[in-house]
Amino acid sequence: TLETTIAGRHFDRCLMNAAGVRCQSSRDLDALVQSRAGAYVTKSATPAPRPGNPSPRMATMPHGSFNSMGLPNNGLAYYLDYVIADEQKRPGKTNFLSLAGTSLDDNLAMLHEINDSAYQGFVELNLSCPNVPGHPQTGYDFEATRQTLEAVFDFYQKPLGVKLPPYFDMAHFDAIAGILNQFPLSFVTTINSVGNGLLVNFETETVAIKPKGGFGGIGGASIKPTALANVRALAQRLNPDIAVIGVGGIMSGRDAFEHILCGASMLQIGTQFGYEGPAIFARIAKELGDIMLLKGYTSIEDFRGKLKTL
Ligand code: DHB
Repeated sequence: TLETTIAGRHFDRCLMNAAGVRCQSSRDLDALVQSRAGAYVTKSATPAPRPGNPSPRMATMPHGSFNSMGLPNNGLAYYLDYVIADEQKRPGKTNFLSLAGTSLDDNLAMLHEINDSAYQGFVELNLSCPNVPGHPQTGYDFEATRQTLEAVFDFYQKPLGVKLPPYFDMAHFDAIAGILNQFPLSFVTTINSVGNGLLVNFETETVAIKPKGGFGGIGGASIKPTALANVRALAQRLNPDIAVIGVGGIMSGRDAFEHILCGASMLQIGTQFGYEGPAIFARIAKELGDIMLLKGYTSIEDFRGKLKTL
């Protein structure tokens, strides 16, 4: 079985989409509900709808994806209405509402609205959007991260986790975990895209996308080692009641298995879900199930976090 539990909530399968990919419209979200994913997360919301950055704002790479979308989304009310209606239709199913206000005040205003609403599911508070011009991501400013969580948990009563950027230094793993451990987080989701890469078109001698002079976030296969390191480093450092959700470079059951070995309780798929569509969840579930059968594991708890060192 691919069941998993996060903050006391049960999920039939430990697979879902990553925020941003194919989850902006109610049609996208309906397709996720119909799929074999164990949950869905909605496109990161801001208080008001946003058109996002000018196009082209996404490009494919041989081993991944590249984007600077700039937070196009239908606004908080749209997603909050969707998840509340879904909870009424399917009582007991937990899903994830992603928030990415471009200021602390925007995030707090949205969280007040959610706190006062009928919504019972998870909030994934995104501290790591690299693509909005002029807005540095909170996750790379440890003091701002601490102040954000102070202000949030001062009033917010429902289960909440944070979406983190990738870290690349052991001292940074220690620093972020030390802060996160001071708060009653339900989960952390790691990693967001590897921010501000540059993709060059050799033929045309131009950048590949229009926003930010061509700079954008890297996703997909190329970022799997960075993702696994962040999953492992956080799983080793966080209080055991903070679940780690792994995201980055999952294209197969093997990739999913590796994320779980590093400590992930849930897996999110972004780039490859974009390329393959909702059928990917049945494929990866089958591949992961076959690997577990072959290795004699009956639940993901049998091997979660049990990566061996040499
Ligand atoms: C966008 C990208 C991100 O990585 C993120 O966390 C939120 C939004 C975007 O460009 O839309």
